[in-house]
Amino acid sequence: MTGLHLGPEAIILPICIAHAFVVIAALIDYRGLKNYYDEAMKLTANELRKKYIEFFVAKGHKQISGASLIPENDPTVLFTTAGMHPLVPYLQGADHPSGNKLVDYQKCIRTGDIDSVGDPNHLTFFEMLGNWSLGAYFKVEAINYSFEFLTKVLGIPVEKLSVTVFAGDADVPRDEESANTWMSLGIPRERVHFMPREDNWWGPAGETGPCGPDTEMFIDTGRPACGPDCKPGCHCGKYFEVWNDVLMQYRKTKEGTFVEMKRKCIDTGMGIERTIAILQGKKSVYETEVFTPIIAQVEALSGKKYGEDESVDNSIRIISDHIRTSVFILGDQRGMAPSNVGQGYILRRLIRRAVRHARKIGIEGNFMSALAQVVLDLYGEPYPELLEHEDFIFSELRTEEDKFNETLIKGEREFDKMATGMKKGNQTQIGGRMAFKLYDTYGFPIEITKELAGEYGFSVDVEGFEEAFAKHQEVSRAGAEQQFKGGLADHSEQTTALHTATHLLHKALRTVLGEHVGQKGSNITVERLRFDFTHPEPMTDEQIQKVEDMVNEAIKADLPVKCETMTLAEAREKGAIAFFESKYGEEVKVYSIGDFSKEVCGGPHVTHTGDMGHFHILKEQSSSAGVRRIKAVLEK
Ligand code: ALA
Repeated sequence: MTGLHLGPEAIILPICIAHAFVVIAALIDYRGLKNYYDEAMKLTANELRKKYIEFFVAKGHKQISGASLIPENDPTVLFTTAGMHPLVPYLQGADHPSGNKLVDYQKCIRTGDIDSVGDPNHLTFFEMLGNWSLGAYFKVEAINYSFEFLTKVLGIPVEKLSVTVFAGDADVPRDEESANTWMSLGIPRERVHFMPREDNWWGPAGETGPCGPDTEMFIDTGRPACGPDCKPGCHCGKYFEVWNDVLMQYRKTKEGTFVEMKRKCIDTGMGIERTIAILQGKKSVYETEVFTPIIAQVEALSGKKYGEDESVDNSIRIISDHIRTSVFILGDQRGMAPSNVGQGYILRRLIRRAVRHARKIGIEGNFMSALAQVVLDLYGEPYPELLEHEDFIFSELRTEEDKFNETLIKGEREFDKMATGMKKGNQTQIGGRMAFKLYDTYGFPIEITKELAGEYGFSVDVEGFEEAFAKHQEVSRAGAEQQFKGGLADHSEQTTALHTATHLLHKALRTVLGEHVGQKGSNITVERLRFDFTHPEPMTDEQIQKVEDMVNEAIKADLPVKCETMTLAEAREKGAIAFFESKYGEEVKVYSIGDFSKEVCGGPHVTHTGDMGHFHILKEQSSSAGVRRIKAVLEK
């Protein structure tokens, strides 16, 4: 874990692929591909996205809209980290309204490696392509699709492909079927590598549930092997992981055994930025067309050139990555403003770090809007929500930039003074309390303090900082761990009832406060619900009481909960509350609670409201500018 506030992302990584998706541990020189990449399609991100979707639609998959970056009702993570993430309930058995073969592109954020952003290979935001079978097809078909797409659509020569499959262990036999399927397609035995559980196994998401081996596809970059043991999965740069097919074949039981499931699922993931870099024969994701226009703008603003000085390049990559991610968080359908908690705090850190690096390379004055415009030009088409939130994106960037500019110079001066004192006293570590003071007084996120310390040759007591920070944070470390126990898959009675209570609350708020109330975030643990919504001012005691009473009346009335499937357009026509857009006319689930509430939602919900308990609002407070937060419980 990189830091307390990055913790939640770190948690989900092990349950996705074992090797972080965007992260290439060693510097990979994609130019090794030169000898054959002319044969491969030099696709752009837009082309790859389109070809992937077209391919799977032609194979009978339904295209679904990617989900928000802010996961709903998943307390284990701050951001959506993979295409499968919003689909977990369906992979675990629920019926998906769009059927059992799905395809999409999903915006993802992983901040576990935020400190490494700046090198040529790390990103915080990335896009993931994925196709899913919810009990429709399994290994043989999934592998055939992957092979056909890689060799026929992307034009990657078969001789450049190698794959890994699960080697088997005491619990689960070796995955001969996948190995045989690859060999039948023309991958010779010596390029099918059997790997242990730590490399080729996925899940379950919680303690128990669906899980299985995976099979990963690698492209040989043509670089020499680093040694006799070099094989796919090695980080020397010879092998590049392009795709992962997760084969959910087993269910892990409470007793720890693995039982073969009847309804087997497929979950796959291909990272867009990485893949286009390799197809285009580029040295780094930052040299592809999703970054070059942003970098060109940074060059224009700073008067510096990319590719001449490693330290300037490092700053340019940090600015470019962080602005891209910030625009996606601000412009999300559940968009967040910078704040001191949760996603808002990650956003604040990204913006502030970008501001500091901009100053470092000589950019004067406000620059964020100019860069945000480039990101909007690049991504407005595949992600129309960004254009809808354009005003919000620009105004929030401007406010945060101004706020930090006021304290950045003072903070740097204070740092300089402290550093001089430390040098005199032969000290080399900045204490936790001091790091916290820099945060508290000057708004320096810990990465900025660490970077500044590095520039002076000092280290930072990060743990000490986190302790000081945790004392001031509303959510303590214990609280965060408690949240994790809730687990991705927690559809227990309590969380189900709280989910239904959230719909009742949403409707009651819209009735009492007005139709401007819209959901900004929802987070449910076994103990409580938390609901963020747009409203410009604190609620009065009277309003809180009214909302509480209204929800309790709906509970007492024992209203039936009904689920229907329809297109989003139909749902809107019937007056359902829906806070996202559907780009492909796919079907959605609409939950009605008597005549009281109608809302688009994935569920699950109680079947009738009578047994939910007494609804009680614990707290109403500010979450960020224009957004209020309610915490409430159901008392039995
Ligand atoms: N869910 C798998 C991943 O994240 C495909 O790699």
